[in-house]
Order: sequence, then structure tokens, then C-alpha cells
Amino acid sequence: MRTIRFFHSADEVFDADIEHSIAVVADVLRATTTIVTALANGCRKVIPVVKVEEARQTAALLPKSEIILGGERKGERIDGFDFGNSPQDYTRKAIADKIVVTTTTNGTKALVNAGRAKQTLVLSFLNMTAVADYVLQREEDVALVAAGIYGEFSLEDSVCCGFLMDNQVTASPEQFSMDDQAARILTLSREYKGRVNELMHNSPHGKFLQRLGYESDLAFCARVDACQIVPLYASGCVKTIARH
Ligand code: MLT
Repeated sequence: MRTIRFFHSADEVFDADIEHSIAVVADVLRATTTIVTALANGCRKVIPVVKVEEARQTAALLPKSEIILGGERKGERIDGFDFGNSPQDYTRKAIADKIVVTTTTNGTKALVNAGRAKQTLVLSFLNMTAVADYVLQREEDVALVAAGIYGEFSLEDSVCCGFLMDNQVTASPEQFSMDDQAARILTLSREYKGRVNELMHNSPHGKFLQRLGYESDLAFCARVDACQIVPLYASGCVKTIARH
């Protein structure tokens, strides 16, 4: 029997024992959607870091012509950075063959904190089925990590994790047992089946992004299965390991 555990924030996963699990990290508005988009559009790799200064220093070590420095604080582009955290900026024209260095408030922290798992995968609505299929094929326990918001629960990340669970549990119920949090999130997520766009618009962070003028990001981030890549975070960077 494989266990599925749910962690509601980057901070919660930090202290947990996840070394023996596959971790799947979701920050759908917008960090993991941006990472998935950048990789789908041909960037060589994404280097997620926690602090702004660390991002600047990491970028400074690499040839300037090969780097895109991206990320956000309070939802907005950081001073001196090439891009903010809008996935729509990471077009093929802008980032093909580049290395993206990024820091975001919760998403990159969640990835780095989950980096001790056996494998750490990057999940968004865009690559939901590709990641679910990949995880299903592995004989490992699963740690689902919603990046959350400043250590608190975030609706869209949790529902995204719930969809992944639904995909797995429905496909293979005899394989999995869930902890209490995971079972609750699975039930919650079923309320949003077919309603991802509405979910994005009604979530507190979605409302915050709308106030900042990023409304079109919400529909972009809501495109379930728009691409079929499985990004793996290992040795400090994210690369695509599987394409279905
Ligand atoms: C985060 O890491 O908190 C986010 O992805 C914030 C955002 O860009 O909307």
C-alpha cells in the first residue's frame, strides 16, 4: 500500500520526513505554472531559489546572454529583474535555450524545501495528467505539497493536489491510502471538477492578482493538461524528465 500525504504549505513540508517519498509541488498561481511554461517553451533549465539576493548572485555567475532573471515579490516584478512571475512572459521567443533563475514568495521556497524527497516534481494544472501518470508508475509513497501562501492554506494549490490524487486514486484505488488532510483535500477538490477557471477567479490569491492587473494569468493558469511535461527538481535546478 502506498501512502499519500498532503502538506498545506512550504513551511509545513520543511520539518516533515519526506526522504522516502516522491514529492509533488504545486503553486499554480503562479510559480509552478511559470516553471512548466518556461520548460515547455524550450528553456534549458530553471533554477529556483528562495531569496532575491541569491537569485541575483546565481544569475551573476552565468553568462548574461544565456540568463533570464525572473520572479516576484508581492506579485510584482523585482527591481532589475528581466521578468516578473507572469507565465505569459515566458514565451518561446523570450526564453528558448536560456536558463531561467527565479525566486518567488512561496513557490520556489516550497520546491527547495521539498528537495529532500526521493524525487521532487513540479505540478500545475497545465501538466496535471502527465505528472499523475508518472507518479502512478512509481512504487513510492507520495508527498503532495501545496505551496500555500505565507505558511497558510491556499485553495488553488490544494485543489490542484486534489485533482492529482483523484487521478491516481480513481485509476488504482487498491494501491493508495491517504492521510486525513489528503482525504479532506480530495473531497474538496471534487467540488471544483470542471470549474478551474471559476476557482482561480474566486480564490483569495486570484483576487489579489486581479487587483494587480494580472487577470489574464488566471485563465492561462487554469488550462488543464495544456502540455504534457514532467519537470524534476534535482541538484538545484528543474529540467524536463518526461514528455508524454
Ligand atoms: C508565489 O510564489 O507566492 C507566487 O507564485 C506568487 C505569484 O506570482 O502570484
